[in-house]
Amino acid sequence: MTIRRDPLDPNERELVREGAPSPAGPRRAYMPELPDGADLTQEVVRFDGGSRVPGQHGATDLTKDPAGVPDPAQVEVPAALRAEIEDFMSRYPDSRSAAIPALAAAQRVHGWCSPQAVEQVACVMRLTPAYLTAVVGFYDMLEGTEVGRQTVYVCTNISCSLRGADDLLASLKGEIGDHPDVNIRGFECLGACDIAPMCSVNGTYVGPIDADEVPELARQIISAQDPLPGKQLVRRRVADVAANSDDVARASLDSGTLDPVSLDGGRSA
Ligand code: FES
Repeated sequence: MTIRRDPLDPNERELVREGAPSPAGPRRAYMPELPDGADLTQEVVRFDGGSRVPGQHGATDLTKDPAGVPDPAQVEVPAALRAEIEDFMSRYPDSRSAAIPALAAAQRVHGWCSPQAVEQVACVMRLTPAYLTAVVGFYDMLEGTEVGRQTVYVCTNISCSLRGADDLLASLKGEIGDHPDVNIRGFECLGACDIAPMCSVNGTYVGPIDADEVPELARQIISAQDPLPGKQLVRRRVADVAANSDDVARASLDSGTLDPVSLDGGRSA
């Protein structure tokens, strides 16, 4: 058995990280489905920094004074959002631990972690906007720029990649186009490698997705319908037959509550 090692020494790796071309050539992925004798490699598309997902690298405006903790008299916070954030804060010994769920709640209200959303969270949590902006920049599911409310994460990590995830992402993007309501992007392993290639549509895991199912899936995403009901992870059969059911609960996009959904995509009473 051959163990493949990083061919770069630490100094070379540092130079590559800073943007120099790699002496080992472009990074390549093993593609076992190609025929014998073929070049068993394929170039892997990567963003700055080497990641397969774009990340967030917003520049800091050094000409501005740092914003302090917002004055409650100056910031209007929707009552329901304030109550939700205060509930999260009450669950932790250190209320700052509620930063992620609080920002997620604000994102559900505003569609993304806009400056206004961050200011509202900062006001309730008594933190600076900079503290929360750093959290937004670090966590991939918190959006630092305006995006569509329908969230589609196509996993492009190793298991899905080997099963055609890059083609799936490209074809799904091609079908959906620049639809303003849809935020579609590649994502790191979503923990459902056994249904590769897969994606998460507003938190609903779907897979394995065949190429000929992409147009139907795109149509369902655009029209906010249940995505490929027969391919959802939650309906996958398990050994415990008593645990199998076609009627499942799905997270509501707006409220974050669980609503029952039947196999045909309709909501049950
Ligand atoms: S690699 Fe895609 S879910 Fe794990």
